[in-house]
Amino acid sequence: MSQLSVTAAGSFTIGGDLVINRLGFGAMRITGAGIWGEPADREEAKRTLRRLPDLAINFIDTADSYGPFVSEDLIRETLAPYTGLLIATKGGQVRLGPNIWRPVSRPEYLRQCVLMSLRRLGVERIDLWQHHKIDPHVPREEQFGVISDMRKEGLIRHVGLSNVGIGDIEAAAPYFPVVTVQNRYNLTDRTNEAVLDYCATHGIGFIPYSPLERGALAGPGSILNQVAERVHATPSQVALAWVLRRSPVMLPIPGTGKVAHLEENVAGASLQLSDADFAALDRQGRAEWQRHQPTPRA
Ligand SMILES: NC(=O)c1ccc[n+]([C@@H]2O[C@H](COP(=O)([O-])OP(=O)(O)OC[C@H]3O[C@@H](n4cnc5c(N)ncnc54)[C@H](OP(=O)(O)O)[C@@H]3O)[C@@H](O)[C@H]2O)c1
Repeated sequence: MSQLSVTAAGSFTIGGDLVINRLGFGAMRITGAGIWGEPADREEAKRTLRRLPDLAINFIDTADSYGPFVSEDLIRETLAPYTGLLIATKGGQVRLGPNIWRPVSRPEYLRQCVLMSLRRLGVERIDLWQHHKIDPHVPREEQFGVISDMRKEGLIRHVGLSNVGIGDIEAAAPYFPVVTVQNRYNLTDRTNEAVLDYCATHGIGFIPYSPLERGALAGPGSILNQVAERVHATPSQVALAWVLRRSPVMLPIPGTGKVAHLEENVAGASLQLSDADFAALDRQGRAEWQRHQPTPRA
């Protein structure tokens, strides 16, 4: 058993009964370029997945559209029967090519997404199924209605939403309890602060996707460098320590297809930032984000 582990970051209970360690794994990067097709190094992707339980990572985020299907297939091939692991998947996006994503959530398609994810993952029920993105061409009540039906039928245990606002979360509440929200969030992308605060108030797990700003916060040259050097950590470790400290409902899922990057990121779970460093990074991250916002018209 290795010393390296995510347990120092603490745990969170999803939906009242699924206890996970807060630092999870995003399985979008175990696919090809543009999240399309097989990964460049399939064996390394499998080694990365196999390493997760040793590091006490017990929360994996995937989607039928990653590949498409490649990520779910690799997870099953490598980790089934998932002892002690929560595999959270998503549905409701179709793929038309590398880097092309379209939300499609007609009720019959969402049902197909769930039935096919069950088959690919090799499970009888999906413990956390997330609606990937609301389809603007379908009344959202119809989308929530079929998800509610599938939950009642036992195909899904808990439901999460992704790429949503507070109004969407509240509109879904009569149909099913929203146990997690997965929106983009990191030190330098603060678009979803209000949604995060709403989740914290309501005990909803907040899964910040792209916590490393798709790798930009993992390399040199970012606002993290100074703190990283001083505390003898890498920028990715400081970026993850910062989001973990930002809220107790925060469940980051950094993505990688490489064991070395996975191990580097996991060490961020035990990094304790001082109050001063946390606050200074907060200010700098917010300022950086605001610099990239469109200027309001006069
Ligand atoms: N719900 C949604 O709409 C949505 C959208 C995007 C992502 N997601 C989820 O969120 C997860 C994370 O987001 P993300 O993958 O876009 O972004 P991310 O976690 O911010 O960054 C991942 C990128 O950083 C690189 N990286 C990771 N660790 C590194 C390290 N220690 N040093 C250097 N480079 C490193 C990875 O490349 P290597 O593979 O080379 O390490 C990859 O290109 C995804 O895997 C997916 O599960 C959800």
